[in-house]
Amino acid sequence: MNVVDIIEKKRDGGELTQSEIEYMIYEYINGIIPDYQMSAFLMAVYFKGMTDEEVYNLTKTMISSGDMVDLSLINGFKVDKHSTGGVGDKVTLIIGPILASLGYKFPKLSGRGLGHTGGTIDKIESFKGFDTSLTINDFIKKVNEIGISISGQTKNLVLADKLLYALRDVTGTVPSIPLIASSIMSKKLALGADLIMLDVKVGSGAFMKNIDDARKLSITMVNIGKRFGKNVIAMITSMNSPLGCKIGNSLEAMEAIEFLKGNSSADLKEICYEAVAHALMIHENISKEESVRRIDEVIKSGKALNKFYELIKSQHGDINSLTLAKKHVLKSKEEGYIKNIDAKTMGIISMRLGAGRNKLGDTIDHSVGINLLKKPGDYVKAGEDLVEVYYNLELRDDITNSIYSAYTFANTKYCDKLILDIIK
Ligand code: URA
Repeated sequence: MNVVDIIEKKRDGGELTQSEIEYMIYEYINGIIPDYQMSAFLMAVYFKGMTDEEVYNLTKTMISSGDMVDLSLINGFKVDKHSTGGVGDKVTLIIGPILASLGYKFPKLSGRGLGHTGGTIDKIESFKGFDTSLTINDFIKKVNEIGISISGQTKNLVLADKLLYALRDVTGTVPSIPLIASSIMSKKLALGADLIMLDVKVGSGAFMKNIDDARKLSITMVNIGKRFGKNVIAMITSMNSPLGCKIGNSLEAMEAIEFLKGNSSADLKEICYEAVAHALMIHENISKEESVRRIDEVIKSGKALNKFYELIKSQHGDINSLTLAKKHVLKSKEEGYIKNIDAKTMGIISMRLGAGRNKLGDTIDHSVGINLLKKPGDYVKAGEDLVEVYYNLELRDDITNSIYSAYTFANTKYCDKLILDIIK
């Protein structure tokens, strides 16, 4: 087999065989195919796409490039969740404890934030001492003990994805449906939960900019799951505006706690309830109303909040350690209904404040970020408090100007639909 022939075949729109895909992946992870040839191959995939058969074979090959985690050692119904990446997305920190307090198992291996999107590991590390480098044995032990654990991905889980993602990140080949689908599904399938919940984000702050692409990505991932005999459900949700009110690591951890105390913005509640309700409906065959009643019950009784605290303690985090940087309040310069708060702009500002990283390995500041005092659909008067900015370095004019530029106003109330489709 010849690497140039395979690149050319894909470049010309041909369908690769399983052995050609295996050759590309294994020879790359073994250091035989260099980055420049793999980059050309990824770009060919970006432009020519892949058939369902190719995506399935790519996913299978990527899974076998590293370790699998044997979740059969965990008793009970195991739910895994993945978001394709958004701004203000703290859903994992909320639905994990809710599911665990309802008797489900939530073994979650998560990633760090990159670029304008946040990552669960960074958010939960806002609690000082929280250990996100558990061994797989410890991870499984904790899930068996308290129903939930959140840890970083192990070094060898889907090794090919680690190498390919880093290369895609610097070659403009991240937003490709077959590459995203195989990257996400290989990690989910290597873990092997009973139910995989996918939150596919669409809009300015997401990789998928339009609903048609988000639907294609969702269908591709659900179909891969089905071929592996797994229950997969994909929610397509809007990421035009940030999710919830808070963006930044400690701020988002605080918002998750507030949610579990029963206080939440409507958008965050809609997504969290929808996700948990689907798990309950699928596993217990109960109605949506009954599922919602059960979620309400664990929130009102404090069980879900206690589960969150139990999680923090079990991984040696200090519950009282969340800190925030200096605060500056920006007042609205306009009057009207907020139509949209651009998610990507807010994600980039949060990163520039220090909450995110430009490249892997950058250090981040957990105490900085943004708190949206008004959300889309709210009426605001000129001079009214609009947004709190938490910062440690100098708060420069270009940052405050960018924040203002993220807002669009309208004369009448307008609300973006949040859950756009569910693919099963
Ligand atoms: N998240 C992933 O895990 N992989 C991608 O390719 C994109 C988002």
